[in-house]
Amino acid sequence: MSKDGQMWGGRFQGSLDALFAEFQKSLPVDHVLAFADLRVNRAWSTALAKVGVFTAAELAAVHAAIDDLEAHWRRTGIPVGDPAEDVHSLVERELVARCGDLGKRIHTGRSRNDQVATDLRLFLRERAAALRAAIAGLCAELVAKAAAHHDAPIPGYTHLQRAQPITIGHWALAHCEALGRDRERIADAAARMDSSPLGSGALAGTVLGVDRDALARDLGFGRGPSRNSLDATAQRDHLCELAFACAMAQTHLSRLAEDTIFFATQEARFVVFGDEVSTGSSLMPQKRNPDAMELVRGKCARAHGALLALLGSLKGLPLAYNRDLQTDKESLLPTLAETEACLQVATLAIRHMRFDLARCAAEAERGYLNATDLADLLVAAGVPFRDAHGVVGAAVNRAVDLGVELQDLPADEKRRLLPQLRVDLRQELAAGAVLARRDVVGGTAPARVRAEVEHWQTQLAAWSREGSN
Ligand code: ARG
Repeated sequence: MSKDGQMWGGRFQGSLDALFAEFQKSLPVDHVLAFADLRVNRAWSTALAKVGVFTAAELAAVHAAIDDLEAHWRRTGIPVGDPAEDVHSLVERELVARCGDLGKRIHTGRSRNDQVATDLRLFLRERAAALRAAIAGLCAELVAKAAAHHDAPIPGYTHLQRAQPITIGHWALAHCEALGRDRERIADAAARMDSSPLGSGALAGTVLGVDRDALARDLGFGRGPSRNSLDATAQRDHLCELAFACAMAQTHLSRLAEDTIFFATQEARFVVFGDEVSTGSSLMPQKRNPDAMELVRGKCARAHGALLALLGSLKGLPLAYNRDLQTDKESLLPTLAETEACLQVATLAIRHMRFDLARCAAEAERGYLNATDLADLLVAAGVPFRDAHGVVGAAVNRAVDLGVELQDLPADEKRRLLPQLRVDLRQELAAGAVLARRDVVGGTAPARVRAEVEHWQTQLAAWSREGSN
């Protein structure tokens, strides 16, 4: 190490300007890679021993130093404020402090460029698993709501105008579908980063015939060693993919949040959020605000920002490593943590959100949500759909004028406006009947939703088996 403790001081006489020294540090961000870095050091020193850099006894001493450092940090935490430039310098310095000259040999044939690329993949593998578990947790809460309310009607909206009734279960499982795809996207991203950059050196590969296959196996990379050292040290598309998966998941969360914030308005009153996830106003004593979901909705913007920051930092960047790449962690790591937190808080909010079933059911009977079904009844009576659409439009206008629902049109109005119909409108246009007609794959009929709840329960069980593997 140089007089200022860097790994690279050989040709430098002066010191870094203090302002720049602080500016270029990555330890405040990359300290989270410390345990991954220790794992990489363990594997790398083993590989070096195989090519004669360490004897068996020396390797044992190096491994003992790594174990000791790991135990120490598990006790004390990582010294985030340490003057070391980055986590790799910190680890090397601490190993040298523990095993002397042996520690100075550990960077043989290695660069921080392949080291950080490897550390990151190990770390991201873990974070991806945690995100997938958090998504499963939220889906479990939504599936519980769907199971409890698979046949409970609620108004469905398009353009935020009442459209057709749906079941609460159908609504809850719609959000599960999107989250399920997010979970899959995260798995895809994790699979694509499942190769080992270690042994790529600074850019051109390593020396001494280090066995990269064994290294990849040792570190649990299923796809073996990366195939091109320039690519492995310079590219960060796997980070972008994960950032996109987070941005997309948070976008889905923001829509779930918005749905429920609307449900909780005095105008809708479909749900009430429990005290666990609501806040009041410092001024207005009557307020009960859905802040948990508002924060989830709001934080989504930062996930979008992280993705753009990453993509922007890569645009036009020459191969191979450039220091710009250090900012990858500043962009990605906070968004991983925040996405996980948003998933957990959304899970909590859904758990503590209670549907007012009577009100949902009553509102599903109001606002002409059954107008399409009235047109369909006319179609069944032989009227072409386009004509039926016009007839029902006129009937809705008349019902609005009279201040009644379609099923409550007076008998004379019904005879005048809908002469083709002989059916009992109260029965045929009831929300239950409207729902039951959507008995199609993907439809909102309670029988279909019940089957989908079972599908999701099986899915959740499979996910939890995957998770515990
Ligand atoms: N702290 C750096 C990073 O996170 C380490 C990588 C190598 N640094 C270097 N100057 N070559 O990207």
